[in-house]
Amino acid sequence: MARNLLRTALRTCMRGGLLLSAVTFLAHGAQAQDGGTDAQVERGRYLAIAGDCLACHTAPGGRPFAGGLDLKTPFGIITSSNITSDRDTGIGSWTQPQFERAVRHGKSPDRYLYPAMPYTAYVKITDTDISDLWAYIRTIPAVNNRVVTNKLPFPYNIRTLMIGWNMLFFDRSAFAPDPSRSAQVNRGAYLVEGLEHCGTCHTTKNAFGGDTRATYQGTSLQGWYAPDLSNNTHTGLGGWSADDIVTYLRAGTNRHTASSGPMTETIENSTQHLTEADLQAIAAYFKSLPQRTVTVPAPLPASNRQMMAGAREFTVQCSACHVSTGAGIANMIPTLQHNPAVNAPNPDSLINIVLRGTDGPVTTANPTGAAMPSFGWKLHDDQIANILTYIRNSMGNAAPAVLASDVGRARKAIDAQQVVWH
Ligand code: HEC
Ligand code: HEC
Ligand code: HEC
Repeated sequence: MARNLLRTALRTCMRGGLLLSAVTFLAHGAQAQDGGTDAQVERGRYLAIAGDCLACHTAPGGRPFAGGLDLKTPFGIITSSNITSDRDTGIGSWTQPQFERAVRHGKSPDRYLYPAMPYTAYVKITDTDISDLWAYIRTIPAVNNRVVTNKLPFPYNIRTLMIGWNMLFFDRSAFAPDPSRSAQVNRGAYLVEGLEHCGTCHTTKNAFGGDTRATYQGTSLQGWYAPDLSNNTHTGLGGWSADDIVTYLRAGTNRHTASSGPMTETIENSTQHLTEADLQAIAAYFKSLPQRTVTVPAPLPASNRQMMAGAREFTVQCSACHVSTGAGIANMIPTLQHNPAVNAPNPDSLINIVLRGTDGPVTTANPTGAAMPSFGWKLHDDQIANILTYIRNSMGNAAPAVLASDVGRARKAIDAQQVVWH
C-alpha cells in the first residue's frame, strides 16, 4: 500500500515537472522571427495551447514539437510528426498555404494525414487564427529529429485510403456562427468544435473511427470512456451549472467529479490556460445544447448477489476515502453519488481508475491534486466487478452491471498489474 502511494506521489511530481518545463517553454521559448508580428505570435501561442499541439507533438522526454509521441488507435500506432522549423525533418521549408492545408484538411505536401491528427476539428479554425498559429509555429526552434509516423499494419498503412475516408466522414465545412445564438455561445462553439476538438474524444464513433450523429454522447478510447457531455442529468452534464463546467476545465475538479487520464492531460495542457472569457464561452455553449432524453435503467436490487458482495468490499476497500455513503470529502475526494461518469453505459474509465489508480489533476487552481491508489495488485476481477456494480446501482446511480470478464479484458488491454497480494 505504502509503495503504491509513494509511486503515485512520485508520478505526480514527475508529471508536474514535465508540465512545468512545457509551460515554461510555451511562455518563454519562442521569439518572433521575420514574418509574424509579436502580437500575432502571441495570439498564435494562445491558439496552440487551445489546440493542444504541444502535447501530441512532443515525445516523453523529447524536445518540444519535435514529434515522436505514439498514439494508439483502434487501427494501430500512429506517431506524431516533427513540426519544428527544421528544414530536413520538420516543417521549416513549408509555406503558410501548405501548413493551412495540413492542419485544416489533413493533406501534407507529399501525403494524406490520418485523423489521429485532429484536422476534422481544426477545419473550423478561421483564416486569421490559422495565420496567427503559423506565425507562432514558425518561431519554434529547429530540432533535427526524423520521425516515422506511419507504423500501421496493412491495409491501414496505405495513406491514399484516406481519400475515401475523407469523402465519407470528413465534413469540410468552415465554422459558421449561428446568428440566432449569442456572440458568447458562438465563441464557445468555435473553440469546442475547432481548436479544443472536444468531439474527437467525446463524440460517438463508427467502426471506421468517423463521427456519428451522436455528437458529444460519449465514446471509448485507449482503455478509457470519454463520457456523455449532452444535456441530460443521468449520464451527461444536465446537472452541471456553467460555473461547474468552468471550474472543472480550469482546476480539474469541481463539486461533482475530478478528472483522470486523457481528460487530466487536456485540462493540464490546454483548458486551464484559457482565459476566463473563453472558459465561460465554452460553458455557455454546452448549456445551450438541447435537452436530451436518455432511458434510465432500473437499478439492480440490493439483494442481487453482485450488489451484496460489492457493498461489503466497498466498505473495506473504498469507504475510508469515499465514505460509506459515497459522498466523498469536499474538494478532495469526489462524490460517487448521482455521478454521471459512474452512470456511463460503458464502465471502462471506472475499471481503469480502480485497476491503475489515478493521479489527481495538477493545475494552478488545484496545485496539490489528490491521488487514488491502484487496486489492480490487490483485487481480483470479480471483486472489482462487484464493487463497481454496487457503485453503479446505489448512491443515486443506475447502470448495467460490470462483469468480471470486462475487468479481465481491461486488465490485459491497459497492461495493469496482476493480483500479487493474496
Ligand atoms: C491528438 C494528437 C494531435 C494534436 C492535438 C495535434 N496533432 Fe498534429 N499530428 C498528429 C499526428 C499523429 C500527426 C501525423 C499524422 C500522419 O502522419 O498521418 C500530425 C501531423 C501534423 C502535421 C503534418 C506534418 C507533416 O510533416 O506532414 C502538422 C503540420 C501538424 N500536425 C500540426 C499540428 C498543429 C499546428 C496542432 C495544434 C493546432 C496539432 N498538429 C495538434 C497528432 C496531433
Ligand atoms: C484526449 C481526449 C479528450 C479530449 C480532447 C477531451 N476530453 Fe473530456 N474526457 C475525456 C475522458 C477519457 C474523460 C473521462 C475521464 C474523466 O472522467 O476524467 C473525460 C471527461 C470529461 C468530463 C467529465 C464528465 C463527467 O461526467 O464526469 C467533462 C465535463 C469533459 N470531459 C469535458 C471536455 C471538454 C469541454 C473538452 C474540450 C474542451 C474535452 N472534454 C476534451 C477525454 C477527452
Ligand atoms: C486513498 C483514498 C482513496 C481510496 C482508498 C479510494 N479512492 Fe477512489 N478516488 C480517490 C480520489 C482522490 C479520487 C479522485 C482522483 C482524481 O482526481 O482523478 C478518486 C476517484 C474515484 C473515482 C472517479 C470518480 C469520478 O467522478 O470520476 C471512482 C469511480 C473511484 N474513485 C472509485 C473507487 C473505488 C471503487 C475504490 C475502492 C476499490 C476507491 N475509489 C478507493 C481516492 C480514493
